[in-house]
Amino acid sequence: MRGPDRVGRAGRAGRAGRAGWAGKDFPCPAHQPYLPYLPYLPYPPYPPYLPLTKPIIAIDGPSGAGKGTVAREVAIALGYRHVDSGAMYRAVGWKALQEHVALDSDEAVSKLASASRIDVSTARVLIDGTDVTRAIRTPEIDRAATAVARLPGVRAVLVDRQRVLGERGAIVMEGRDIGTVVFPNADVKIYLDASPEERARRRASDPAHSGPTAVGEVATLLTARDEIDRTRAASPLYAAPDAVVVDTTGQNVDQVVREVLTVIRSKLKT
Ligand code: C5P
Repeated sequence: MRGPDRVGRAGRAGRAGRAGWAGKDFPCPAHQPYLPYLPYLPYPPYPPYLPLTKPIIAIDGPSGAGKGTVAREVAIALGYRHVDSGAMYRAVGWKALQEHVALDSDEAVSKLASASRIDVSTARVLIDGTDVTRAIRTPEIDRAATAVARLPGVRAVLVDRQRVLGERGAIVMEGRDIGTVVFPNADVKIYLDASPEERARRRASDPAHSGPTAVGEVATLLTARDEIDRTRAASPLYAAPDAVVVDTTGQNVDQVVREVLTVIRSKLKT
């Protein structure tokens, strides 16, 4: 009779065969702590920089800091999915305006949000099957999204959906509260920032966004939205204490993407 094995299971004579752990106690060879007839390797048989789990990368920051472009490029480089959580708040704001729902009624907007199907991919945003990819990039929807994002009930609905999207890992999610609330245990947290002037310049020249193109006017609108995002009671915008802050002022997209990828690779190695 054999005694209990190293993980405490009671042994039975001969059940696990000659090599002990090579038998039925482990369901498949990949779950064995070592392969009994191969020479023991002093290093892992996989490159140490490849994580065994599928990581979650959180990218937060204010409007115009470059999150959208950088998150998309980083996701492509890593072969991960990319989710723009801001597009979900925009889609809910759009729908609330369509249905003449008061943007300050948490009960009404949360009801609308939980009854809506929202599909976000890098290319398209759909709400209940309607393609709103372009329609949600207007100053009116900027305001509506920021208004509905203040409501705790709406945030609870969308945060749940964002967590479901992140369940499988291998994802880059961008927003305002991804590293602080949605995925407080994200493998890597990046906080992208840039000077207010630079953020306004970028937003003014963003072809995906309609609205004013005068940098001064855009700057005023951005500052007002940022102020609401930073000071609201529910999940305000701030950098998580364990986030790496990347200042993108004066840097082009390639430089920022390279810097962010360097941070991600060094974090995933440890
Ligand atoms: O990122 P974007 O500017 O598209 O987001 C629109 C609005 O949605 C933001 O101004 C913010 O109020 C809200 N938002 C949020 N939390 C997120 C993403 C966006 O509150 N995770």
